[in-house]
Amino acid sequence: MENIKAYVQEHKDRFINELVELLKIPSVSADTAYSHDVFETADAVKASLEKAGCDFVEICDTPGYPIVYGEKIINPSLPTVLVYGHYDVQPPDPIELWTSPPFEPVIKKTEIHPEGAIFARGSCDDKGQMYMHVKALEYMVQSNTLPCNVKFMIEGEEEIGSKSLSWFVERNQEKLKNDVILISDTGMISNQQPSITTGLRGLSYVEVEVTGPNRDLHSGLYGGAVANPINVLSKMIASLHDENNHITIPGFYDNVVELSLEERAEMAKAPFNLENYKKALDLNDVYGESGYVTNERNSIRPTLDVNGIWGGYTGEGAKTVIASKAFAKISMRLVPNQDWEQITELFTKHFTSLAPAGVTVKVKPHHGGQGYVTPIDSIGYKAANMAYTETFGVPAIPVRSGGSIPIVALFEKELKSKTILMGFGLDSDAIHSPNEHFGIFNYLKGIETIPLFYKYFVELSK
Ligand code: BES
Ligand code: MN
Ligand code: MN
Repeated sequence: MENIKAYVQEHKDRFINELVELLKIPSVSADTAYSHDVFETADAVKASLEKAGCDFVEICDTPGYPIVYGEKIINPSLPTVLVYGHYDVQPPDPIELWTSPPFEPVIKKTEIHPEGAIFARGSCDDKGQMYMHVKALEYMVQSNTLPCNVKFMIEGEEEIGSKSLSWFVERNQEKLKNDVILISDTGMISNQQPSITTGLRGLSYVEVEVTGPNRDLHSGLYGGAVANPINVLSKMIASLHDENNHITIPGFYDNVVELSLEERAEMAKAPFNLENYKKALDLNDVYGESGYVTNERNSIRPTLDVNGIWGGYTGEGAKTVIASKAFAKISMRLVPNQDWEQITELFTKHFTSLAPAGVTVKVKPHHGGQGYVTPIDSIGYKAANMAYTETFGVPAIPVRSGGSIPIVALFEKELKSKTILMGFGLDSDAIHSPNEHFGIFNYLKGIETIPLFYKYFVELSK
């Protein structure tokens, strides 16, 4: 595969321009105002797969946004790699914090990306990483080096819980049959130190509503005499952690798999600099559960975080008012073997029980999913590691991530196959934040590394 480097060099401008075009379409799945753009993006992904060399591509309609399915079957007796990615993106808000418009991609140099990075919503999560696979296929088809069968399944609802994908996977097990699932929708340690994600956290996402009086009230006439839903909600939320930052929901930790001291010592070997971590976020200190270090708090431990809280008057100036209602959106990141539906139930029961007289509380579950851990002795992991070692010059380190891709656990359950998470993003790429970007180095390195995964996976499968 000497030629992949040369191929990437020769075509890199076109590779970048094609991605830029895809990034211009604002495929925000969470906001129906963008619905037309989400459908248009599916069409663009379909066209790109056809152009790259798939023999068959279709837009699969679902109750929600479509799934783009493509395949190139060269010989049914050879292994099949199933590539998953998502073409939907997070909302760009707060838009005023972007240094360039989120859907007008520009290339800018940064300290971490001296070769430049593409700034746009979805550049790293996940259009840029998904598109590396399309271009890797193009190379393998053009150079006649595709060593096995390949299937693509690119969805448009990952950022809102992958509901239609679960629906689709349950109904298309035969079509999606594969020997390994390959995903680039995670990160790596740094551009000098690749890593392979061996774990994802599960998720339970809920919305809570606290109702007091039947209308907003004058805070002088009624203040002190009736429950203030915002005060009450704040108190309830505050009580969800104790002084050690342990979560207080009864039963919450019952099924948590604790890592052995050996495993934790192994984790501590991954390069991590706390001072740089704090500096990058302008923090004077880190924060979290007692007894665990930062890299454990954000990966092997479950957490509970308020993602949004609102109610009452938040406009300009002051308005003296006791709101009738207060709301919050709360996410719980889960670890093996916590079951997200059971955790949602435990939360609901506990949170409702916290309500003092004078208010009523409702809990509305949103979406969720199970966590995932994968062994490092599988053929897929070994092939990925060989590929990274060849393109980066050093072996990859296994790392458990704090993020969630709930569909991965479902793939294992329904399709009975292991997923390999070959991510090329960096934590500093600001996914879900203003100024999301994806390094040109990372994009091109990804295109270079993926064909090697295919090569080694097929070799090791023999
Ligand atoms: N690609 C991310 C998940 C991710 C990022 C995992 C970096 C590991 C490292 C994915 O698009 C995402 O944002 N997932 C959501 C969950 C989903 C159900 C909305 C998340 O983790 O918040
Ligand atoms: Mn993603
Ligand atoms: Mn995301």
